[in-house]
Amino acid sequence: MSTERTLSIIKPDGVTRSLIGTVIERFESQSLKVVAAKLQQLTTEQAQEFYGVHKERPFYNDLVKYMTSGPVLTMVLEGENAVLQNRTIMGATNPAEAAEGTIRRDFAESIEANVVHGSDSAENAAIEIDFFFNSSEIVSY
Ligand code: CMP
Repeated sequence: MSTERTLSIIKPDGVTRSLIGTVIERFESQSLKVVAAKLQQLTTEQAQEFYGVHKERPFYNDLVKYMTSGPVLTMVLEGENAVLQNRTIMGATNPAEAAEGTIRRDFAESIEANVVHGSDSAENAAIEIDFFFNSSEIVSY
């Protein structure tokens, strides 16, 4: 077991449906601490770059449009095995396949509007955290 950090995003459907508190409660009650947070409206350029790995996918343009359709809450979560722990708490990308008790099973409206994003590996977590946060914006407690 090791303490890790991971990037979490509460997506526009989560923010606009007032799910911020509910989502953070899921993290905090399952041993993930919020060590940085920023409520922001992504630009098209930011969303395109952040999801650049999906550029060739048929859903890319819609995903960028969706992620810029309203504010998002970007966060750094910290805890034991934070990358995997966050993915377990979120559930599968497709809410129809997400396990019971997960955020996506309980709240996601579709595979696109699936409430949250979480880094898929420690390597990508470092890249994604750097994308949104300076080291001075991440705290320890
Ligand atoms: P996320 O974990 O943020 O990573 C990429 C996102 O693309 C994913 O969550 C979904 O919001 C979206 N996505 C993935 N697969 C599909 C799909 N088949 N159709 C539409 N959107 C998708």
